[in-house]
Amino acid sequence: MNSQFYVTTPIYYVNAEPHIGHAYSTIVADVLNRFYSLAGFETFFLTGTDEHGDKIVSAAENSGQTPKEYVDRISGLFRTLWPKLNISNNYFVRTTDPGHQDTVRFILNRVNENDDIYFSEYEGLYCFGCERFYTERELVDGKCPDHRTEPEVIKESNYFFRMSKYQDWLIDHIRQNPGFIRPERYKNEVLSFLKEPLEDLCISRPKSRLKWGITLPFDENFVTYVWFDALINYVSAVGYPDGEGFKQFWPSAQHIIAKDILKPHGIYWPCMLKSAGIEPYQHLNVHGYWNVNEGKMSKSIGNVVRPLELVDIYGLDAFRYFLMRDMVFGLDSEFSEEGLVARINADLANDLGNLVSRSLTMVCKYFKGELPEPGHSDAADEELRIATLELVDRYEELMKGLGFHKALMAIWEMIGRLNTGQIGY
Ligand code: MSP
Repeated sequence: MNSQFYVTTPIYYVNAEPHIGHAYSTIVADVLNRFYSLAGFETFFLTGTDEHGDKIVSAAENSGQTPKEYVDRISGLFRTLWPKLNISNNYFVRTTDPGHQDTVRFILNRVNENDDIYFSEYEGLYCFGCERFYTERELVDGKCPDHRTEPEVIKESNYFFRMSKYQDWLIDHIRQNPGFIRPERYKNEVLSFLKEPLEDLCISRPKSRLKWGITLPFDENFVTYVWFDALINYVSAVGYPDGEGFKQFWPSAQHIIAKDILKPHGIYWPCMLKSAGIEPYQHLNVHGYWNVNEGKMSKSIGNVVRPLELVDIYGLDAFRYFLMRDMVFGLDSEFSEEGLVARINADLANDLGNLVSRSLTMVCKYFKGELPEPGHSDAADEELRIATLELVDRYEELMKGLGFHKALMAIWEMIGRLNTGQIGY
């Protein structure tokens, strides 16, 4: 059995401050990391920030700072937030780290030596928000589905990665490894995308247009496209190519992402790994979106939910419990403060609180406040013991399958049985 566990979150853009969506992915990774660590696995948990690209340059300009000053500041916000949410990451990677940049150049050289990179002129529809070209069929009413803006026509010479070469391999790999992309709905989404011919990926930006990036090792007039840079964090942070960490942890790698970045992770990344001669990751775990008032959170609408404000009012464990209990991993969830309060009152104060309070009262009343050694166990005790052991097995299975809300429901079912006296006293 594999006794290593390696989990990653997306590395977050530093063009916005952390909100509940970032907190959710990172808490899920933290929960999994703690779970595997308690189960005796050697674990490695990675998070970090994605700091290159057009978006960052404009955000820096807007705040009157140089890109470097700006990324240091916002990356710092993420780094100081995580301990406050009890996040136990082993490392925090930044794409501006010199070590990461070396690894990106190393991989670009390998892919290039493998004849998987070519230079060509391209005219396409470019969304500056997404920092990528769109094909006509990906647009909705002629607009970027994410930013709802019309892409601009851009014509330039660039380097391309022969992603199309790996299409058949990727389809086979996904089919042969059913848990490669999970839950199922996202696996199907990727497979359905792969029914159409896969286009090669533009992996450079001319420095005349963008300077804030990693210079290509084989042409100093170009920087690396942000995704080709960012995805590599998952291997650079554990010391690829020669580091012990890479050898030890990469074979067990699991990524946590939301559905917005399924394509780069489900398609670009495995093809990049294949071309560079690196084994694919084990699992891509994809969750849905936290929405507010049935819509996306956004700064302009002013409905961004800030995790620390909630933690200050309701407490950290209650906040983490709510996130894990209320979202079905893979589906969207609606966030509301009323929902959070209702969950805390019903589950934590009522169910769990009652059980703890009754147990403590009985220990005080009948045993002078000290826990006695277990006495003779009768049929009710035995039933409780068996049910609890069964619960542990069920819980482990559900956690491994990302059924966090079900794992918690299973525990609360037991709490309910204890409270209503269906078991034990
Ligand atoms: N920098 C890229 C990721 C590169 S990974 C190699 C990026 N950054 S991001 O800051 O936009 O973060 C996107 C991720 O943040 C989502 O995939 C998800 O993990 C989290 N979330 C952001 N908003 C979210 C919600 N409203 N709900 C749930 N999670 C969301 O994309």
